[in-house]
Amino acid sequence: MSSGKRKVKIVGIMMMVNLFIYIMVEVSRSNGGHGKNSHNTVIVTEKRFWKKQVPSEAYWNRQQEIMDYLYNPILGTLNSTILEEIKNANISLSSLNSCEPDLHVKTQVKDYNFLPNRFKDFLLYMKCRTYSLVVNQPTKCKNSPFLLLAIKSLSPHFDRRQAIRESWGKTQKIGNYTVVTVFLLGNATAVDFFPNLSEMLEHESKMYNDILLWDYRDSFFNLTIKEVLFLEWFYQYCPNAQFIFKGDDDVFVNTHRIVEYLKVLQKPKAKDLFVGDVITNAGPHRNKKLKYFIPESMFVGSYPSYAGGGGFLYSGDLALRLYNISHQVLLFPIDDVYTGMCLKKLGLTPEKHKGFRTFDIEEKYRSNPCAYRSLILVHSRTPQEMIQIWSWLKDSEVNCQ
Ligand SMILES: *[C@@H]1O[C@H](CO)[C@@H](O)[C@H](O)[C@H]1NC(C)=O
Ligand SMILES: *[C@@H]1O[C@H](CO)[C@@H](O)[C@H](O)[C@H]1NC(C)=O
Ligand SMILES: *[C@@H]1O[C@H](CO)[C@@H](O)[C@H](O)[C@H]1NC(C)=O
Ligand SMILES: *[C@@H]1O[C@H](CO)[C@@H](O)[C@H](O)[C@H]1NC(C)=O
Ligand SMILES: *[C@@H]1O[C@H](CO)[C@@H](O)[C@H](O)[C@H]1NC(C)=O
Ligand SMILES: *[C@@H]1O[C@H](CO)[C@@H](O)[C@H](O)[C@H]1NC(C)=O
Ligand SMILES: *[C@@H]1O[C@H](CO)[C@@H](O)[C@H](O)[C@H]1NC(C)=O
Repeated sequence: MSSGKRKVKIVGIMMMVNLFIYIMVEVSRSNGGHGKNSHNTVIVTEKRFWKKQVPSEAYWNRQQEIMDYLYNPILGTLNSTILEEIKNANISLSSLNSCEPDLHVKTQVKDYNFLPNRFKDFLLYMKCRTYSLVVNQPTKCKNSPFLLLAIKSLSPHFDRRQAIRESWGKTQKIGNYTVVTVFLLGNATAVDFFPNLSEMLEHESKMYNDILLWDYRDSFFNLTIKEVLFLEWFYQYCPNAQFIFKGDDDVFVNTHRIVEYLKVLQKPKAKDLFVGDVITNAGPHRNKKLKYFIPESMFVGSYPSYAGGGGFLYSGDLALRLYNISHQVLLFPIDDVYTGMCLKKLGLTPEKHKGFRTFDIEEKYRSNPCAYRSLILVHSRTPQEMIQIWSWLKDSEVNCQ
């Protein structure tokens, strides 16, 4: 063999080896490299290889298939009909991230005209996740807090925010551990018949320095926007916080209990921490009257395991990875399911913790001060109850055994 031919052969072999390594790396990367959960993702990959790829009829699924392909064309085995479609319609990653109203949905979603308005609103702007931050707290995390409490609120909920500030969301040190709070708000717009509260909000924000406000319509189906905007904010302004509690403004949270739980966590577990009230084997509701109704023309399939949005606890390290992967997951109108989808893409599953009571505790214990000592979260509580329970926690030492 001449040395020229041999070189060509060696180069050829090297290329094959490189391709093989690339595939192995991609496969293990999409598993997240976490032994316990890795079989989930592997199963998905096997399906991809052997199943005939028929494009999904449901809009979200189909758009996600396209996005998966565009992010990872080598692993993808996309149906050739869709490939044609991508080429003809000039679909690119940037067209999947656009803030122009997406008029294609009117024809691509079969029953678009018959869907309730909230779906039309959602679908038209599903590909937009860039909204300006109108009120920021850029120095909130300057001292690298141990725990950041990020609370989803709505402009008019002044009393809930105040009660949280006076109870479980107090900026404080618990032992040596710093806890800071931010409230996540969108724009309460005239469209939704909100009175103009912008001056009061401005006043509140100056007084407490804990409001984050973005310029998008603060509606139920836009909570996923709140989620991705929060993750972006975290990445930019708070990446050193060790842990995050994210939840609603109508829950009681035992902040002391959270710190106790977190401070003894060991390294590997702490890094991938994601705990809450986990819901498994769920899927979309098909009853039009329900708040969580999702039409079949929009989404088919089951939901991944997810932690109820009332409140969950996770590591700052994982939040940065969630931020990263969120770009590869299309917005879905139910925010906690969306976070579950992102976790799944990272090869992780949320873990259930008994201390999260998003469906409340037994009625007979609700006014028992001792019942709250070992819990992390209880849903739902009024502002008055939050303050009451917080005071119980402070002086219940004596009476509880
Ligand atoms: C692609 O999808 C169409 C249905 O839209 C189906 O008829 C066809 O068999 C699929 N092609 C492949 C190669 O799987
Ligand atoms: C496809 O879109 C890109 C920008 O998204 C544009 O630069 C290009 O000209 C388009 N090509 C066609 C054939 O429309
Ligand atoms: C707080 O930190 C200081 C110095 O690092 C240490 O001496 C002290 O014991 C810590 N206190 C608690 C309650 O952990
Ligand atoms: C709400 O009030 C503020 C201050 O008075 C004003 O600047 C703003 O334009 C008002 N917004 C709307 C939508 O009317
Ligand atoms: C947000 O509110 C301001 C007034 O407070 C208004 O001018 C703006 O159009 C609103 N944005 C959205 C997306 O509704
Ligand atoms: C979400 O917010 C955007 C920006 O304000 C708005 O255009 C869209 O209609 C909202 N979607 C829903 C479902 O409210
Ligand atoms: C985010 O993803 C990119 C590749 O898409 C990777 O290079 C980077 O390390 C990731 N960052 C984090 C924090 O995971």
